[in-house]
Amino acid sequence: MNGGWPPLAWMQPIVAAWPYELRRWTGADLPWLFDAAQDAEVQRWTSVPSPYTLADALGFLGRADDHWAHGTHLHLAITSADTGLLLGNIVLKDIDWSYRRAEVGYWLARDARGNGVASTAVVGLTAWAFGELGLDTIELRAAVGNLASQAVARRSGYLHMGMEPGGCFDGDTRSDNALFVIRRDGVRP
Ligand SMILES: CC(C)(COP(=O)(O)OP(=O)(O)OC[C@H]1O[C@@H](n2cnc3c(N)ncnc32)[C@H](O)[C@@H]1OP(=O)(O)O)[C@@H](O)C(=O)NCCC(=O)NCCS
Repeated sequence: MNGGWPPLAWMQPIVAAWPYELRRWTGADLPWLFDAAQDAEVQRWTSVPSPYTLADALGFLGRADDHWAHGTHLHLAITSADTGLLLGNIVLKDIDWSYRRAEVGYWLARDARGNGVASTAVVGLTAWAFGELGLDTIELRAAVGNLASQAVARRSGYLHMGMEPGGCFDGDTRSDNALFVIRRDGVRP
């Protein structure tokens, strides 16, 4: 540990989330990312820009490396452990190393939905964040209208803490969100 957080810039973790794996994004992922992020649901419920350009995809990959180096947001590609096929994105964001808190976010390519991929990835990332990174608390926010994402939170063992005003994306507008939390010690916050 260095000043409370591990040296992340050169870390290339393979986070287990069987039958999936989470790994850092690479430049070779650009075409897949550009294509998958065109999806209307991804653009509606996340900070992914709409319309989504090649420059947006390139910018994301560059920022992802910077964020790893600064230890602020750890973006990971969700892949099939067997085939290596890309399925989506998951991020541990707004990491506060002093309070050992972070927030998790995610999106999947359209074809990867409906099979529990997101909750499996969230469970794997949560275990890694508690075990390898030493975090204590992870939050998850889903817009009130995003029932699939709220179901992912519950299925991943996160507790519903209540509603927050105006903190989530719903297209061009901000939406109230459902706040979920999980603690390493399992104690309700
Ligand atoms: C949200 C998202 C990640 C869910 O991932 P997923 O792996 O496909 O999730 P699942 O299909 O297994 O669905 C999870 C749960 O939501 C339920 N669900 C799916 N679509 C739903 C809908 N429209 N309304 C209500 N429930 C829904 C499923 O039945 C499932 O419930 P269960 O756990 O009780 O079986 C995916 O739909 C996605 O990428 N959406 C666009 C981006 C996004 O919304 N990101 C999250 C921002 S907070």
